[in-house]
Amino acid sequence: MNAPYRSPPPGIGAGLPHESAHLHVAGTASYTDDLPEPTGTLHAALGLSNVAHGRIRAIDLSAVRAAPGVRAVIVAADIPGVNDCGPVKHDDPILADGLVMFHGQPLFAVAADSHEQARRAARLATLDIDALPAILSAEAAAEAASWVLPPVDVRRGDAEAALAAAPHRLAGQVTLGGQEHFYLEGQIACAIPGDDNTLHVHSSTQHPTEMQHAVAHALGWRAHQVTAECRRMGGGFGGKESQSAQIACVAAVLAVRTGRAVKLRLDRDDDMRITGKRHDFHIQYEAGFDDGGVLHGLKLHLASRCGFSADLSGPVNDRAVFHADNAYYLDAVAIRSLRGLTHTVSNTAFRGFGGPQGMFAIESVIDDIARHLQLDPLAVRQANFYGDSQGALRNTTHYGMKVEDNVIAPLVAQLARDADYARRRDAITTFNATSPVIKRGLALTPVKFGISFTATFYNQAGALVHVYNDGTVLVSHGGTEMGQGLYTKIRQIVAHEFGLPVEDVRLSSTDTSRVPNTSATAASSGTDLNGKAAQVACQTIRRRIAGFVAERLGVSADAVIFTAGQVSAPGFDATFAQVVADAYRARVQLWDAGFYKTPRIHYDPVTMQGRPFYYFAYGAAVSEVAIDTLTGEYKVLRVDILHDVGKSINPAIDIGQIEGGFIQGMGWLTTEELVYKADGSLATHAPSTYKIPAVSDLPPVFNVRLFDNANAEDSIHRAKAVGEPPLMLAFSVFFALRDAVAAALGPDARPQLDAPATPEAILKALHGGTLA
Ligand code: MTE
Ligand code: MOS
Repeated sequence: MNAPYRSPPPGIGAGLPHESAHLHVAGTASYTDDLPEPTGTLHAALGLSNVAHGRIRAIDLSAVRAAPGVRAVIVAADIPGVNDCGPVKHDDPILADGLVMFHGQPLFAVAADSHEQARRAARLATLDIDALPAILSAEAAAEAASWVLPPVDVRRGDAEAALAAAPHRLAGQVTLGGQEHFYLEGQIACAIPGDDNTLHVHSSTQHPTEMQHAVAHALGWRAHQVTAECRRMGGGFGGKESQSAQIACVAAVLAVRTGRAVKLRLDRDDDMRITGKRHDFHIQYEAGFDDGGVLHGLKLHLASRCGFSADLSGPVNDRAVFHADNAYYLDAVAIRSLRGLTHTVSNTAFRGFGGPQGMFAIESVIDDIARHLQLDPLAVRQANFYGDSQGALRNTTHYGMKVEDNVIAPLVAQLARDADYARRRDAITTFNATSPVIKRGLALTPVKFGISFTATFYNQAGALVHVYNDGTVLVSHGGTEMGQGLYTKIRQIVAHEFGLPVEDVRLSSTDTSRVPNTSATAASSGTDLNGKAAQVACQTIRRRIAGFVAERLGVSADAVIFTAGQVSAPGFDATFAQVVADAYRARVQLWDAGFYKTPRIHYDPVTMQGRPFYYFAYGAAVSEVAIDTLTGEYKVLRVDILHDVGKSINPAIDIGQIEGGFIQGMGWLTTEELVYKADGSLATHAPSTYKIPAVSDLPPVFNVRLFDNANAEDSIHRAKAVGEPPLMLAFSVFFALRDAVAAALGPDARPQLDAPATPEAILKALHGGTLA
């Protein structure tokens, strides 16, 4: 029935299908919930707080304990180790203890015979909580000086003096909403007790090593007692970097308490209530610039809503600061980053990791400058681009890193040409002049995104490669698969090293017992890090096989070639399988581990100066939209993207990442709106009220092209990371909408359009900020 797919010759650069595509389409790919359940598996559910902030007086769980099928109920005091699952600051209780910090915070957990019984039982608690005043927004946190981490200031030059001396000055503010990850597979873990105080945790996580440590910590155990494993996720998007830990810890504590396997799978509404989202921001700026729109001085305030705990908010807000330049040279600049503690879910990593918020801030500034000067925003963008590495001027970032690989100017020029920007700009102006109700808008926005974890130590990876003596290969590495195609690329990299068809290479799951001390699969660097580690392991093995063949033939090892499933040397040709079988009998080690750490990066977290990124990924997009000025409704008519993935390992996967990232970014900036009620509860906790883009929202014209640009750094096969950067291409949609609103309002209008630009927000902007 399923004829195995035979790929073209092994190929770096071949657009091979995802290694699990045949399983995805048949519905047979196993996600954590699909794994066979051990006999006696219990199912868990969480009991949630019904106030945003308060002191727990009493939780009466008698009805919960008496409910049908219930086998165990735990509260904070039942956690044998430390009641914490926080990744950095350790201020994240697994179950609330004494103090409630957000509406929906887990207070207790139930394990029952069935999923339904557990969920029904969890609703039977009687809560007695003394409500306290709650801080619910980034602005309110900034006003109250309520922080999860102290404010951070990054400055270069004298921004005040530059502002004072600049020919023009503007001030403005904009609100930027958060975003729910909406991974198709929700948070889930299944903990299975083993013998002699060990535990195997299947977790839908981007960070198995952190799950291992969090679980050990919660149990009061040591790391070697816990194994965490993940074969694939149905999406993570940053939401399973740290926040899978709470789920894994609850399942683990209940499993050890009952001696049974325990599965905790969050229902969608609970998942949306309990887990953190993208940080929403309140942005304020003052800018000084010249007649051409070139920035002379900039003061930027980035106030974020972190939620009740630090989680990853430190590095997320740091990345916002690092990306507050996007592709632009900021001469004299003062950036203040405020990390607001609010009584809401703890916001976390989300594709771009704070970068998008910082970049949105500067794009808003540039757009305002263009509108104030009545210049084409593209011209103002181009006038502010970083210089190239030759022109030593204007190419150092505000954090002291030289932009050496800058291609933004030629990339944007090529896109503007290919997408016919100038002609369409004129056509839109003509259209708008004669169209009173429907207005069109156009925007071309650039992306420059730094690749590497800013926490330098995370930039390391390991891989374990087994060549079995029948010539097949099994690879483990530290990265996780969440649909982004990491395993597919690693498979290509490994197949390429041995000259094998990809069918001979299989990826095993990501498992802390096979590759230890791994980093989160995040910061888009999964292939960069794990691909190099796997390559190192393969090269070691290949050298040994080549040495074995060379010795038998009396030739140099360099003369032994691995290609098309064959191993050849002058006067010798045999299949890889034959050679490997012989090598095994000659006692040649056919497996090995590889390790990689990113070179050249360094950074001082106190001064925020250094070279935090190995390189930058670039891209740009042009979007054209039409709005209905009577209803605020709109359509995205056409999108053209030119994106830099270096030398692509797999263009099919890369284009998929670009399209997916763009659409996800478009959802964030247009239809996805998180609405909190006055009591701090989330009103939009299901797809009925929280609108992610649908197939029908795809632009009817959607051209995606790769920019031909091998990585200037020695990355794996000179490719560039692609996971996050394309999300920010969606700025073009937001600023096209703003362009259309401005067209309706008049020549020098600077519409107060906040994100997400829902039809309601657009209507508001058309009416000067109110809908009264
Ligand atoms: N693509 C899919 N299909 N699903 C995901 O969850 N996560 C994104 C991106 N692309 C994601 C995705 C995020 S947030 C990151 S950091 C990268 O993939 C992580 O994978 P990589 O480092 O292998 O690119
Ligand atoms: Mo991605 S936000 O770095 O998981």
